[in-house]
Amino acid sequence: MTLVKAMRRREFLGLSLGTTGALLLAQCSRGSSPSSAPGSALAQAPVYSSDGGLLSFDLVAEVQQVKLGDRNANLLTYNGQVPGPRLEAKPGDTVQIRFTNRLNQPTNLHYHGLHIPPTGTGDNAFLEIPPGESYTYEFQIPANHPAGTFWYHPHYHGLVAEQLFGGLAGLFVVRGELDEIPEVQAAQEEFLVLKDFALDRGGNIPDPGHMAQMTGRIGDLLTTNGQFNPALEIPQGGLLRLRLLNASTSRFFWLSLEEHPFYLIATDGGAITSPIELNDLVLAPGERVEVLVKGDREPGQYRLLNQPFNPAQGMMGGGRMGGMMGGGMMDGTPNRDRAETVATLTYSGTTASLPLPTQLIPVEALPEPQTTRQFTLNHGMGMGMVFLINGKAFDHNRTDTQVRLNTVEDWEVINTGTMAHPFHVHTNKFQVISRNGQPAPYAAWKDVVSVSPGESVRIRIPFRDYAGKTVYHCHILDHEDRGMMGIVEMQPA
Ligand code: C2O
Ligand code: CU
Ligand code: CU
Repeated sequence: MTLVKAMRRREFLGLSLGTTGALLLAQCSRGSSPSSAPGSALAQAPVYSSDGGLLSFDLVAEVQQVKLGDRNANLLTYNGQVPGPRLEAKPGDTVQIRFTNRLNQPTNLHYHGLHIPPTGTGDNAFLEIPPGESYTYEFQIPANHPAGTFWYHPHYHGLVAEQLFGGLAGLFVVRGELDEIPEVQAAQEEFLVLKDFALDRGGNIPDPGHMAQMTGRIGDLLTTNGQFNPALEIPQGGLLRLRLLNASTSRFFWLSLEEHPFYLIATDGGAITSPIELNDLVLAPGERVEVLVKGDREPGQYRLLNQPFNPAQGMMGGGRMGGMMGGGMMDGTPNRDRAETVATLTYSGTTASLPLPTQLIPVEALPEPQTTRQFTLNHGMGMGMVFLINGKAFDHNRTDTQVRLNTVEDWEVINTGTMAHPFHVHTNKFQVISRNGQPAPYAAWKDVVSVSPGESVRIRIPFRDYAGKTVYHCHILDHEDRGMMGIVEMQPA
């Protein structure tokens, strides 16, 4: 990055964001060099699968020393693992999690993306599990739940950023229809949990520092399943199914794979109608995608690259896909000089060439909304930075939005601030209808959508079942903890 560019960003961001340019510079200078060799083989977290319709296990949150690459790190872990164990269940299954909090602060669990009750022992973001106490979560995954890549993480307001940044996150996979499409089934499946960390010399997580107030805490260590640049192998001719989660607190990932396009097959909420070819994609914090990669190049090594993404930059003039994947292509084309390698793909052996699927699963067209609401995102000064929705900071005693079950609503999310905000809704997924009036290029189920400065994004949400209160918020979790969250109450029809 040139100094001029950094300076221009500083001006653009204004006083409170003055450190961002420097932050991005610091990130760039620590990138792995283009020649950096891949590390050890990609590891996968232990898997806890349902059996006979029941997924039942113990889960403990506690500080543990774990390896991050070759470094010793004192992190916050689920069952001693970073990322936490991968949970796998099917539609109709019962889930029973005997959770114990061995942290020195309160916590709880949120099941991000699952369509389950937001109340009681379900996906209840309002629960407080004090240090030393246990709680049993129990819920059923509805029989008509789509297959997809979901995840779990803490959601105790005020401590979410700190606890997630410390390492608390794991995948929650629902297996179903998408997994049974023959071409998808034939692909080699790999889960990639992308997450940044920061460590001091003692292997502890340093204090986030002043700049994190605005940008959210961002670490310079990029990990994939807790590893640095792990190696992935497929045979030439083979098909790879990458299931990607951005589990970072605040960092966006802007990904491309050398010489290989991605074939997008699923977004946050599950499958799309048919694969879409992409050269790169932006994953905001909390977002997931599934992509297929065809092993149809010369044998060799290909880097999965992440380039610095500036969340203060709008996506005006940005690319095609940025529109949907929430974020933006900084200058339209990837600039790979400043990229870091997050994983390396190597061909090993050959196989008869596997085809891509042509059809996936239809995304239903939603009816016109009964109600349209506006949610304006901005920030201000309070005790330090505060982040606001419609001028208000989160108050757990206030219900901000009341909706009726069996209705469809359009929510217009307007960013009048200076940073992108990935807007997330619990319990009910949505479709992006338009961005600054431009219709979305294709239909997809989402639960996070990044809204750049100056943008207005219209999302359409069906409220069908589950009465009760839940939340919507910015998934830059420092923003959420500093107020950018509201309560929606779903009322019986
Ligand atoms: Cu993944 Cu309320 O968040
Ligand atoms: Cu969530
Ligand atoms: Cu935000």
